[in-house]
Amino acid sequence: MAKMEVKTSLLDNMIGVGDMVLLEPLNEETFINNLKKRFDHNEIYTYIGSVVISVNPYRSLPIYSPEKVEDYRNRNFYELSPHIFALSDEAYRSLRDQDKDQCILITGESGAGKTEASKLVMSYVAAVCGKGAEVNQVKEQLLQSNPVLEAFGNAKTVRNDNSSRFGKYMDIEFDFKGDPLGGVISNYLLEKSRVVKQPRGERNFHVFYQLLSGASEELLSKLKLERDFSRYNYLSLDSARVNGIDDAANFRTVRNAMQIVGFMDHEAESVLEVVAAVLKLGNIEFKPESRVNGLDESKIKDKNELKEICELTGIDQSVLERAFSFRTVEAKQEKVSTTLNVAQAYYARDALAKNLYSRLFSWLVNRINESIKAQTKVRKKVMGVLDIYGFEIFEDNSFEQFIINYCNEKLQQIFIELTLKEEQEEYIREDIEWTHIEYFNNAIICDLIENNTNGILAMLDEECLRPGTVTDETFLEKLNQVCATHQHFESRMSKCSRFLNDTSLPHSCFRIQHYAGKVLYQVEGFVDKNNDLLYRDLSQAMWKASHTLIKSLFPEGNPAKINLKRPPTAGSQFKASVATLMKNLQTKNPNYIRCIKPNDKKAAHIFNESLVCHQIRYLGLLENVRVRRAGYAFRQAYEPCLERYKMLCKQTWPHWKGPARSGVEVLFNELEIPLDEYSFGRSKIFIRNPRTLFKLEDLRKQRLEDLATLIQKIYRGWKCRTHFLLMKKSQIVIAAWYRRFAQQKKYQQTKSSALVIQSYIRGWKARKILRELKHQKRCKEAATTIAAYWHGTQARRELKRLKEEARRKHAVAVIWAYWLGLKVRREYRKFFRANAGKKIYEFTLQRIIQKYFLEMKNKMPSLSPIDKNWPSRPYLFLDSTHKELKRIFHLWRCKKYRDQFTDQQKLIYEEKLEASELFKDKKALYPSSVGQPFQGAYLEINKNPKYKKLKDAIEEKIIIAEVVNKINRANGKSTSRIFLLTNNNLLLADQKSGQIKSEVPLVDVTKVSMSSQNDGFFAVHLKEGSEAASKGDFLFSSDHLIEMATKLYRTTLSQTKQKLNIEISDEFLVQFRQDKVCVKFIQGNQKNGSVPTCKRKNNRLLEVAVP
Ligand SMILES: Nc1ncnc2c1ncn2[C@@H]1O[C@H](COP(=O)(O)OP(=O)(O)OP(=O)(O)O)[C@@H](O)[C@H]1O
Ligand SMILES: [Mg+2]
Repeated sequence: MAKMEVKTSLLDNMIGVGDMVLLEPLNEETFINNLKKRFDHNEIYTYIGSVVISVNPYRSLPIYSPEKVEDYRNRNFYELSPHIFALSDEAYRSLRDQDKDQCILITGESGAGKTEASKLVMSYVAAVCGKGAEVNQVKEQLLQSNPVLEAFGNAKTVRNDNSSRFGKYMDIEFDFKGDPLGGVISNYLLEKSRVVKQPRGERNFHVFYQLLSGASEELLSKLKLERDFSRYNYLSLDSARVNGIDDAANFRTVRNAMQIVGFMDHEAESVLEVVAAVLKLGNIEFKPESRVNGLDESKIKDKNELKEICELTGIDQSVLERAFSFRTVEAKQEKVSTTLNVAQAYYARDALAKNLYSRLFSWLVNRINESIKAQTKVRKKVMGVLDIYGFEIFEDNSFEQFIINYCNEKLQQIFIELTLKEEQEEYIREDIEWTHIEYFNNAIICDLIENNTNGILAMLDEECLRPGTVTDETFLEKLNQVCATHQHFESRMSKCSRFLNDTSLPHSCFRIQHYAGKVLYQVEGFVDKNNDLLYRDLSQAMWKASHTLIKSLFPEGNPAKINLKRPPTAGSQFKASVATLMKNLQTKNPNYIRCIKPNDKKAAHIFNESLVCHQIRYLGLLENVRVRRAGYAFRQAYEPCLERYKMLCKQTWPHWKGPARSGVEVLFNELEIPLDEYSFGRSKIFIRNPRTLFKLEDLRKQRLEDLATLIQKIYRGWKCRTHFLLMKKSQIVIAAWYRRFAQQKKYQQTKSSALVIQSYIRGWKARKILRELKHQKRCKEAATTIAAYWHGTQARRELKRLKEEARRKHAVAVIWAYWLGLKVRREYRKFFRANAGKKIYEFTLQRIIQKYFLEMKNKMPSLSPIDKNWPSRPYLFLDSTHKELKRIFHLWRCKKYRDQFTDQQKLIYEEKLEASELFKDKKALYPSSVGQPFQGAYLEINKNPKYKKLKDAIEEKIIIAEVVNKINRANGKSTSRIFLLTNNNLLLADQKSGQIKSEVPLVDVTKVSMSSQNDGFFAVHLKEGSEAASKGDFLFSSDHLIEMATKLYRTTLSQTKQKLNIEISDEFLVQFRQDKVCVKFIQGNQKNGSVPTCKRKNNRLLEVAVP
């Protein structure tokens, strides 16, 4: 599979040239055009050999994704298009696999993308190096150190919204496996002047804005700060807010990063307190106050801010106040105190702020180092990443630019040294003859600056330490004297006659011709900045602070450790640290990233050629290419070289059996490449001129096209032939199949025809036989039929004869019988006529009657006396018998029914019979009473305690006890009364109380009257003159009139042996006291319902309307 892998190369699909070494012809114009062409096609990276040029795209490109990381992982440098990842991978792999310490030097001007590049390198290495919880924590700490340092060390400038205002060198340490262990950060020369003053359009360090925007109200009040930027003199206001920067969010990121890096909460707080103190220092203002001796003395205008600073830092207010007013100079045990005027006081304030901040920054770096330092003592492999300010050429260049450019000069030197050294080493390694290369060595410029005896830095130090008045001008004079003859030094006053006429040079300036161009430096401020003076009173005041962090930042303030020696100057400090850095870098394998800024507008897609040209010049990139091309422009190992170009020669194509080197030799001979154009190293072929390489590439391209055509041709031929063969094969198969099919079909046809013919013949034969057989059979059958017919005729003839004979015999017998009968009848006729007719009649009648009774037996109706069914009569002559029989049967079943009765039931039926006799067909009410059983005692006096008294008063048997309505004779209204009938008496009692109202002996009752209608009214007539009759007759109405009248009749009969007179009439008279009143029953209307109503019409008439 590995063999099948397609080997890619930087040379594939190249836009312009990917490696400037291959640029032909090489000059500034072609160089820039190549960069521009690539930039326009989003190719921001280009190589110069192993150096990466990076052009800032000012927009995010999709070339840093995890997939890209995977693409570049473990790939050779020239295998893919130029990328920062290729360089990172190369560096990381040679560190891991070849045990070579690496350094990655990133240079370029402000805004060119150095910091971004350094972060890309770190993130790539983090992505490809080892994994695991511990390793990841180390990685995270290393990566998170960036936001912290950027907050404190970066600021918005006119060139870059996130400009690093310090140099940074970071060593990342790895173990033997290539897993990260930790790191060490070194910082160089923080631009501390920014703390107190920022150029127009620029900002102070990010952290101040982040703190004020992002801190909670609580934190702000704790730090005695206000959110408003305008409250602080040290914050420039015109560009306090930057588009695309969210200070508040960044503040949270920084706090979070500090936590990840390992800052304790109290440490982070202390840091913010120092930041707050610096901000507030800027708000202290002074005013002049004249003293008696005529000297000006400064006084703090408003002590409130001072008070708050002191509270924040724990410094005695009076101590700090004094430090702002006096300056104590100690010399040889003598202390001299002088007052400070207003200008000096401001100077002191700003010096304090700058020192406080820059020392805080150094402390932060140390603190981070403490967190990220490797935990083991084992030998480590190191990868250094240097993100340092690039060459700076401004209109006004001061001490800072001088220092920075010095640093770049040193870097260029180390670059030249290392590149040449590497080149030389490779030649030796490859056994190639080393030819001397002409190039510009900038060691002479470095010497001009750093030489210990007459270098510019040494002069400056000397000037600073010299007693007497020292000014920037005296320093320039000194330079004029000492460096005048130096080739690369120019000044107006220089003694060198060459420059005497140079009026382009201003007075207080000197110019250095750096490797990257000429820079004009203003001497103003050199001495001061080099001195970097902080009055001892201030450092002592700071040391006295109870704030531990601040105290630790000013160790020289400790009076016990008073050191009269001056602290080293800024210049000498820097020189020393650069020297250490250089030493450090020299031990490592260098990798270069040269960053280029394409425009001044921080804008994407704009490529300002003059700006780029300027950078190319001072970065010495052409120089770089030349050095690289000094001997041979291109080199490649034999195997990949042969692999790439073997198609150009018949012997090597398609396979070369021998060693790769001889293959390449054969190839180059065949191509007739001039001998001086290449050399054979041990493992590589060295090509002197890029032209040769491009010729090879062109040939290869052409050959590839030919090869492609060839492949295409062969493929097409092969395809056609295969197709043809396939068609041919198919045709044979199809023909075979078709023939087989046709033969099969033909055979089947013949076969079926044969079968048809066969079957016809067989059929014909069979039919013939059948015909014969049928004929034979018919002949046989005909004989049989004839015989049968003959026998039949014979038999029929016989039968006919026999029948004739039998008929004749029967006729003879019948005739004989008739004859006999006639004879007998003639003989017996006289006996029959006398008796037989009567007997037959009687017999028949008897039989009919018998049958009638027997049938009746089965048709009897049920035994119920009320069953009206009776079978119909069958014979008219039995009509009377039938009726009689019905009557007898009814009587008999009535008797049967009666026999079942008990005595009591008999009594009831007797009563009912009595009632029937009395009322049937006389009173219309009667039929409705038939179904009602006579109960007599409707009112159960015995059981009702209410009537106890009434019961006690009656000794006889009660026959009737019932509530009746007694009609008031005066008005026809009725009142309820209990009607009691005993054996001898009739009693009326009150229904409620049971008290007896009237008692009539039965003997006094003469008559009962009632209507013939359907009503319950009845009158009880009493014997005239009797005691009971005094009040007159009674008129009642009752629901049980029939029963009551019957019982009254029966009781009277049994007691008095006299029949009670019952009058049924619709008009009768009733005796009311003396008067007789007529009670008349009329047919009433239905209006009053179904109840009869009684009304007194006049004195003599009481009308009862019966509905
Ligand atoms: N590879 C890149 N892709 C996209 N944007 C980039 C890239 N490199 C740089 N930039 C943009 O350019 C800006 C400046 O880059 P950076 O801060 O790295 O410059 P610098 O060289 O470090 O400048 P200084 O010397 O001022 O610190 C970044 O904030 C970013 O917006
Ligand atoms: Mg930077």
